[in-house]
Amino acid sequence: MDKPITVTQPYLPPLEEFMPYLQQIWQNKWLTNNGPLHQQLEKELAEYLGVKYISVFSNGTLALITALQALNITGEVITTPFSFVATTHSLWWNKIKPVFVDIEPEYLNLDPTKIEAAISPQTTAIMPVHVYGNPCKVDEIQGIADKHGLKVIYDAAHAFGVKINGNSVLNYGDLSVLSFHATKVYSTIEGGAIICHTEEMKHHIDNLKNFGFRGETVVEEPGINAKLNEVQAAYGLLQLKYVDGFIDRRKEITELYRSLLKDISGIHFLDDMEGVTHGYSYFPILIDKDKFGKSRDELYEHLKSHNIYSRRYFYPLISSFEPYNTLESSNPKNLSIATKKAENVLCLPIFVELEDKQVFEIVDKLK
Ligand SMILES: Cc1ncc(COP(=O)(O)O)c(C=O)c1O
Repeated sequence: MDKPITVTQPYLPPLEEFMPYLQQIWQNKWLTNNGPLHQQLEKELAEYLGVKYISVFSNGTLALITALQALNITGEVITTPFSFVATTHSLWWNKIKPVFVDIEPEYLNLDPTKIEAAISPQTTAIMPVHVYGNPCKVDEIQGIADKHGLKVIYDAAHAFGVKINGNSVLNYGDLSVLSFHATKVYSTIEGGAIICHTEEMKHHIDNLKNFGFRGETVVEEPGINAKLNEVQAAYGLLQLKYVDGFIDRRKEITELYRSLLKDISGIHFLDDMEGVTHGYSYFPILIDKDKFGKSRDELYEHLKSHNIYSRRYFYPLISSFEPYNTLESSNPKNLSIATKKAENVLCLPIFVELEDKQVFEIVDKLK
């Protein structure tokens, strides 16, 4: 049997390049709590991403939970069911009721034209997701938020390095949240970040991720422990040296897939968006069973039988998971596009060290 091809695989830089960072940590004897590498990482990330303020976290889920805390979000929040379950879990952990709204068919992001109908007197915020790193309709969403006095918190877990007309997508909304999980384009093994617009908000977020301490003896609010340690910060600094190359290679793989798949009936992929600099974090395809001749699940199993591991991402919808499936907004009739897309979507393998010949092999087996 062929060597397995996984849906993703982390790129680990040469070990000898990591050693000097470890030596620095051993000399500093400073392992966590806003250490020098943590501070350096925040500075370098802000510069790289083109954002003003960033606070790094031990993972993206805690960053989402903290973002909601930082803005005192309560009541109901409008969100998408077509995401990773952590998006909605972050609301649940804040005792906020998620209200699911359907997605738009082209890029599978929250559909702004359907948001207003879901707003109630309890609604305080919108939490959209830049799914696969493709930016949401940010101006339309902001317009609705402004009209109704709502906050906007973007789950930007997939959107590292993504820009709209040269401006980071992370600069939209009140707060944006990244994930640096090992499966992401840019990683600190586990990790995440909140991007905000003011120094005051950064201090607030920094305190929240450190038990709510302000200074040594004052606890202002019930914060949490969500700090990134020095070893992971070091890993992040090293990854940052490579990330442009990661994105370039992902772009090449994406273009190769597109060229090989474009004439296959019943297979649809997402094109680049006009004016957008992409990060190429995933390569999703949508399968039309009638035209392709096989269902998504049949294709998934077929690839698996050839040791090719694709991923049904996002499937099932968050709204169909047990904690959420009794909510009124979880009714599939309310989410017809998301329901259909979740049944037909499949993410094909994409990672820096995936070779062209493996892409040919995947497409060959898919055919
Ligand atoms: C859309 C989305 N939101 C949130 C998360 C959670 O991030 P983390 O795994 O860093 O906690 C993920 C990560 O996998 C994600 O894909």
